[in-house]
Amino acid sequence: MALSYPLIIGRNDTHGLGYERVDGDPNVTVLVDTMRTTAQWPATVRLRAWEREQLGLDHGERLLDVGCGLGEAALVLADDLGSTGAVVGVDASAEMLRIARANAAAACCSVRFSVGDACALDEPSGSFDAVRSERTLQWIAEPLTAVTEMARVLRPGGRLSLIDTDWSTFTIDVGDVELAARVRTAMSVERNRPSNIGSRLHELVHTAGFTQLATTVQTHTWTEWDPDESPAPDGCFSMESLADNLVDTGQLTPVERADFVSTVRAAASRSQFTMGLTMYAVVAATL
Ligand SMILES: C[S@@+](CC[C@H](N)C(=O)[O-])C[C@H]1O[C@@H](n2cnc3c(N)ncnc32)[C@H](O)[C@@H]1O
Repeated sequence: MALSYPLIIGRNDTHGLGYERVDGDPNVTVLVDTMRTTAQWPATVRLRAWEREQLGLDHGERLLDVGCGLGEAALVLADDLGSTGAVVGVDASAEMLRIARANAAAACCSVRFSVGDACALDEPSGSFDAVRSERTLQWIAEPLTAVTEMARVLRPGGRLSLIDTDWSTFTIDVGDVELAARVRTAMSVERNRPSNIGSRLHELVHTAGFTQLATTVQTHTWTEWDPDESPAPDGCFSMESLADNLVDTGQLTPVERADFVSTVRAAASRSQFTMGLTMYAVVAATL
């Protein structure tokens, strides 16, 4: 790893991204903005379009979005439900739901956003035709409990759509093979959360008793970042936060941390910067 670049002092924002407890997080604005940014990624747009086609929602059906965040994806699907359909969004964060409710002002069907826990849904059994959950299971310590709850609230023959990131697929290329290997190793370690759940979604739905119907993947690629203009690549954690992960997993010593950050920043400044991250999607049905 090249360790010769001086530390560039840029904007003093070294955020990580953590969605276990959005409310009260000092970076709540970053967390909300990141949802808006990542919703625009071509990979996300394509996965949501694929999901919409696979779910094939009909007028009058009821859709539940678990960990709905700002509600944007569910509100697009609302168009398929017609005026007699219904959307329910559940999220642990009141702040996310405050924005989701504002987003729902022009919805064509009945919409309700409720604070709740994916692992203990306050919804009657068999009360939904379809359930979706996107990039939420990676924040839940017991994802199988959450998917079992999703199965409970679905009617027989109901459809489930899961979309999630697999952080073990995260790659970084700044022209330094050793640095890339250290990042890859660090990101494959799950620390207190199932951050590599993406590739296990199909196993999860089978374990929860679903029949899998279809699966796909999409990779988001970052090819530019101006470290003097923004504290982190679009929709990503800061490189300081990434360095902390490498220290936590023994891939960097605390002394090497600043050199890692300056190496990545310098490479990005001379446009020698690529990162990649794969997201998985599965659509399944209850028996
Ligand atoms: C990364 S965001 C994804 C939001 C949205 N699904 C999207 O893809 O735009 C994760 C969301 O899961 C919510 N969340 C985290 N743990 C949860 C839990 N146990 N129950 C319900 N929601 C949870 C967070 O508040 C956050 O809004």
